[in-house]
Amino acid sequence: MKRTSSLMLGIACSLCVQVMAQSSLREATKDLFLMGVAVNNYQVNGGNRAENDLIKTHFSSIVPENCMKSSEIHPEENRWEFGPTDKMVAFGEANNQAIIGHTLIWHSQLARWFTVDEKGQPVSAEVLKARMREHIHTIMKRYKGRIKGYDVVNEAFEDNGSYRRSPFYRILGEDFIKLAFQYAHEADPDAELYYNDYNMSTPAKCDAVVRLVKSLKAEGLRIDAVGMQGHMNMDSPSVEAFEASIKKLADAGVKVMITEWDISILPNPFNHSGANISDRFAYNEANDPYRNSIPKDVQKAWNKRYTDMFGLFIKYHEVVDRVTVWGLNDGHSWKNNFPIRGRKDYPLLFDRENNVKPVVNQMIKQANKASKKLKK
Ligand code: XIL
Repeated sequence: MKRTSSLMLGIACSLCVQVMAQSSLREATKDLFLMGVAVNNYQVNGGNRAENDLIKTHFSSIVPENCMKSSEIHPEENRWEFGPTDKMVAFGEANNQAIIGHTLIWHSQLARWFTVDEKGQPVSAEVLKARMREHIHTIMKRYKGRIKGYDVVNEAFEDNGSYRRSPFYRILGEDFIKLAFQYAHEADPDAELYYNDYNMSTPAKCDAVVRLVKSLKAEGLRIDAVGMQGHMNMDSPSVEAFEASIKKLADAGVKVMITEWDISILPNPFNHSGANISDRFAYNEANDPYRNSIPKDVQKAWNKRYTDMFGLFIKYHEVVDRVTVWGLNDGHSWKNNFPIRGRKDYPLLFDRENNVKPVVNQMIKQANKASKKLKK
């Protein structure tokens, strides 16, 4: 009798361990891809116990939402603010997470001094090159061997595939991208290097990025992956369009990363897509309908949207190296203020009280099922 019950206990415990082992996103995805989360300045500076625990438990990778952007880490030519990034890196290391740098060269949240002289006029090509080199080298050498990979250039293309007329482009032309990748590789030859952009399922834009990848490779420059930001709405992009872009990028010989994933549940009356952070629309109550609760059918459709997309990423797990959600819980999400300020959105995997949403369990099941198949 005693033996039977201890045997039963043993079986129950091992079952329990198995269930526990597979009950986090981090565990469930470990044979598929890195599962990442963007950490905000509050979290980087210590945050709170509940959020830190979720970040550790569910994610194998972190990326800073803001603290490494040039306006924050390098606000003046001779002033660096490494404190938050140092803490973020230490947090990731303590939790054995892959740490990603975001972002080295970007026209938004760009330090005011970066591309102009003391009179506010654009600097010369030579000066800008030297500044880019110094910026990239200083950051990447400081975190050498600790940050796994960087979004070297962010959002260099318009949706129609033409080059964005950013200050970098206006001063250096399209070569600014090559230069950035070259400086990055010199600074830390072991770091992975990525190009990152939104609306990557727009064919003209994806094609432009494919051309970029090919030309970087043709010049012998390192590029490991393209980041598809993944800021999504309920109705766009379609799974098919996203899939077509994953395929195109994989065919160009790079890995794909879903770098900034969130799915807004709110109406999108302007048919807005992507993440051009200067896009703004006026607030009205009709566009902010879920201040008190979300109707069941809408919630169901949102869950399906998440699991459909996650299913796609799993299908391409050999190409997709990382899936990163853009923030931990709904309360922190930038989508509450973009592209309309002051709405109440629900785009992430944890709610405002840090409860795990039911969709997370569905995603864990999807990942477990795929991992099991791999082992067969
Ligand atoms: C956003 C942050 O989430 C906000 O906190 C900030 O105010 C603006 O930038 N594309 C990117 C991200 O590459 O860095 C942006 O992050 C969202 C769009």
